[in-house]
Amino acid sequence: MSKATSETVFTYGAPALKFGPGASAEIGYDLLQVGARRVLLVTDPGVAATGHPARIAEQMTARGLEVTTYDGVHVEPTDESMAAAVDFARESGPIDAIVAVGGGSAIDTAKAVNLLVTNPGELMDYINAPVGGAASPVNPLLPLVACPTTTGTGSESTTICVLDVLSQHVKTGISHPRLRPTLAVVDPTLTLTQPPMVTAAAGMDILCHALESYTARWYAGFDAKQPEDRVPYCGANPIADMWSERAMSLLAGAFRTAVEDGSNVEAREQMALAATFAGLGFGNAGVHIPHANAYPIAGRVRDYRPPGYPEDEAIVPHGMAVSLTAPEAFRFTFEASPERHLHAARLLGSGQARPPEYADGPDALPEVLLTLMRDVGLPSGLAEVGYADSDVDDLVDGSLKQQRLLATAPREATADDLAGVFRGSMELW
Ligand SMILES: NC(=O)c1ccc[n+]([C@@H]2O[C@H](COP(=O)([O-])OP(=O)(O)OC[C@H]3O[C@@H](n4cnc5c(N)ncnc54)[C@H](O)[C@@H]3O)[C@@H](O)[C@H]2O)c1
Ligand SMILES: [Zn+2]
Repeated sequence: MSKATSETVFTYGAPALKFGPGASAEIGYDLLQVGARRVLLVTDPGVAATGHPARIAEQMTARGLEVTTYDGVHVEPTDESMAAAVDFARESGPIDAIVAVGGGSAIDTAKAVNLLVTNPGELMDYINAPVGGAASPVNPLLPLVACPTTTGTGSESTTICVLDVLSQHVKTGISHPRLRPTLAVVDPTLTLTQPPMVTAAAGMDILCHALESYTARWYAGFDAKQPEDRVPYCGANPIADMWSERAMSLLAGAFRTAVEDGSNVEAREQMALAATFAGLGFGNAGVHIPHANAYPIAGRVRDYRPPGYPEDEAIVPHGMAVSLTAPEAFRFTFEASPERHLHAARLLGSGQARPPEYADGPDALPEVLLTLMRDVGLPSGLAEVGYADSDVDDLVDGSLKQQRLLATAPREATADDLAGVFRGSMELW
């Protein structure tokens, strides 16, 4: 058997971007430039209550656009909630553009709506294998403007849409370059109303996007691909590195302040930039173990209800689920690239009152993360959100199902390795 050759090519994709206070007031103008007339605005009830979506709808109407609003997005969407949004869109008549106003939940739901109002079939046909049929869209999608109201997911730049498939108790996604929004409108003034725990959880999502893409397997460490086999996540590379490093520096300066004083405009702007930068990085490089672990942590929740999120359902929010095993995951991946782990610890630790003293070993990055997590008020470990050692086998099973993400890890993670990471994450402090 001949040895496979190594990859020599990496890729970079991004939407057009408008950033800054007031940017969201221009969406109507931007949509007219692409010939739109009838627009569907997609949001969730919590974001609708802030008044931002109604104002944006008014501004679009004032430009002569016809706007229909769907405000029924489920926080952390499910196959059922997305199908309901698709049904609404199909029944509300022809549209020629979509605007998402909200966090990752609203933006991801808008991506699913966009896919299914333009292409045949149903959600399950497009969901990643083995859960779904992993079909590719055959038709082009509508212009999608993504306007984030959280400082977190970076979904406005990415090709992915994440959902919970209720019948199979599994979180998974749809991933295709055509899902990427055509225009990202990042207006930091919309993020000022985020509750502290949303700021904290979404901020940890930014941090993990940056850190995981920065420590991901290097793109040239994969086998060479044919053009038709290229996936949006191509591994760490020089361009994604640039975004990830900068996102970490921004977080070091602004994260604690944004949580402590949500009205601090400068901190909110820095966080919005950090989220955007991290999205542009990880949306190309990919994420790995903490994100793979987040799927079962979120998917198997029993009764944890954090403040700031809808009270009618148990939820371990995405950013929280991602961060809870991050310190242990990065202790495990340290040996794959010590320099990168230490450099990240230096970038992130520069915001700490007492700079870490253990700056040159596998503990350096976990210690920086733990201090930050404590400072922003995250739960103290998996135990606090309802898990015990008896859950570890199930959690490992769920994580191993995320092979697409684990393939990007800088070290191969076996079931035993993952079990060690989960066990070590029960009580972080
Ligand atoms: N597609 C991607 O690239 C990607 C990446 C990471 C995460 N995700 C997904 O995104 C979802 C999480 O998104 P999120 O963290 O942005 O949060 P979210 O959209 O789930 O919103 C969290 C809560 O905050 C409220 N909220 C949002 N913005 C607000 C504001 N400005 N003022 C007041 N309340 C506000 C919402 O109503 C909701 O209750 C998860 O489903 C996750 O899996 C997607
Ligand atoms: Zn994430």
